[in-house]
Amino acid sequence: MKNPIGIFDSGVGGLTVFREIRKQFPQEDILYFGDTARVPYGPKSPDTIIQYSIQNARFLLQNRAKIIVVACNTASALALPILQSMLPVPVIGVIQPGAKAAVEHSANHKIGIIGTYGTVNSGAYQQEIHKLNPEIEVLAKACPLFVPLVEEGWEDHTVTHQIAAEYLSEFLQADYDTLILGCTHYPILKDTLIKVTAGKIKLIDSAEVIASELESELPEIETSGIGKNLFYVSDNEEKFRSIASRITGTNLEYLNKVFLGESWFIK
Ligand code: DGL
Repeated sequence: MKNPIGIFDSGVGGLTVFREIRKQFPQEDILYFGDTARVPYGPKSPDTIIQYSIQNARFLLQNRAKIIVVACNTASALALPILQSMLPVPVIGVIQPGAKAAVEHSANHKIGIIGTYGTVNSGAYQQEIHKLNPEIEVLAKACPLFVPLVEEGWEDHTVTHQIAAEYLSEFLQADYDTLILGCTHYPILKDTLIKVTAGKIKLIDSAEVIASELESELPEIETSGIGKNLFYVSDNEEKFRSIASRITGTNLEYLNKVFLGESWFIK
């Protein structure tokens, strides 16, 4: 593997991003790191998420990543500017492309955002949307139960339908026409969310939009891959493997555990 596209997430959620990137860039080598020892990032403090993100990005860089994709909304919301300012390769995140896609789509200028507490409380999506159009009405809601439901493989369970109906009722009642899936786990719930909203709200999938964003960054960088996938996690390889096979539809050929060690970042 020469210069892979490096992707990191707090765990399995970023595999929805991996899946899209793999589809759109079949020749590229991809190095994926899932921080399964420290997931979830959603409820953690900004300082902690920044520190973890720097360690994750450093691991990808040490393994010659030519670009880093932050496939986690929480890390993108809180750590992207610092990663971009300190790393020698391009770093892209999901917030800006997701906000742009939502603004382009919304006809009635009412955009909903669902994500982790970290993402919602950071205000990152809200800011990006208002940079593009200050008139847009934005409603953001943390949906902390979605991540464990996905991890449990309950994307189509009755319980998940009930929870989704509860979380999304405000958006439906107030006639929001666009909803950003501001967490990389959520595209796995897409079918359920479409059912619950009766297809009345356009869902913006951050995994799809970041793959398109990558397209505009990649041409400047020499491509040299053979379509190889390398997966690293910080814990629980077998649990990762079973969820990952479900999300990617493949058996992970190369999966290893890595210990990232002490942080070298002191604030
Ligand atoms: N994948 C993370 C995100 O997009 C959610 C999971 C977590 O809380 O770590 O925000």
